[in-house]
Amino acid sequence: MLVYRAFSPRDTRRLGEALGKLLGPGDVVCLEGELGAGKTVFVQGVAAGMGVRGRVVSPTFTIIHEHPGKVPLYHIDAYRLEGVPDAETVGIEECLYGGGAVAIEWPERIRELLPEERLDVEIRMLVDDGTDGGGGGRGTSGNGNRGGEGHHDDEGCRDGDGDDDGDGDGSCAREIVVFPRGERFRRMVEELKALAGPGY
Ligand SMILES: Nc1ncnc2c1ncn2[C@@H]1O[C@H](COP(=O)(O)OP(=O)(O)OP(=O)(O)O)[C@@H](O)[C@H]1O
Ligand SMILES: [Mg+2]
Repeated sequence: MLVYRAFSPRDTRRLGEALGKLLGPGDVVCLEGELGAGKTVFVQGVAAGMGVRGRVVSPTFTIIHEHPGKVPLYHIDAYRLEGVPDAETVGIEECLYGGGAVAIEWPERIRELLPEERLDVEIRMLVDDGTDGGGGGRGTSGNGNRGGEGHHDDEGCRDGDGDDDGDGDGSCAREIVVFPRGERFRRMVEELKALAGPGY
């Protein structure tokens, strides 16, 4: 298991990128965490690490985005899926066994379909920034505040280098817990520790 502290979206992306370098065909990464935790940001890093070109935005409404590459990346947002039949309709299983790497947000929605061997990533918000997704950020007016589009990255975040810690309320702080299921992913997490830098 790896526990990583991120103090900005950039940190989260960095860990994703390190992971992306290690992923191969058939690998499944599940991303848990509340609304706005940074799952999509993490996947942006994964895509960069895999050498995928083009923008990675949340597949909230389309459920699946396929990003072509040497190894394709399937980015799934299962938030809107209601159970397995629904998931089958949109072709989740074809993705899971489609020869690409797969990153899934809200995997708990499709628990029954997930392979036993996978990487579970949980992004915890260390400080409640008071926006906790209440009021149905997703359900009602769509994803206007999601996907990182239009607002700049580390805005309002401490940069984690310790020289301005009076600034900000820590709402950018995340704890990212990476939990391997199965031997392949145990080895991958060991490599990830080396790539992600000292102290992890
Ligand atoms: N350390 C951090 N890591 C990632 N994102 C952060 C961090 N600090 C602040 N943020 C901000 O939090 C937001 C995370 O948005 P993102 O769309 O990645 O969340 P999500 O977990 O995918 O949410 P959803 O469940 O709605 O899909 C972004 O606006 C990002 O800039
Ligand atoms: Mg998301």
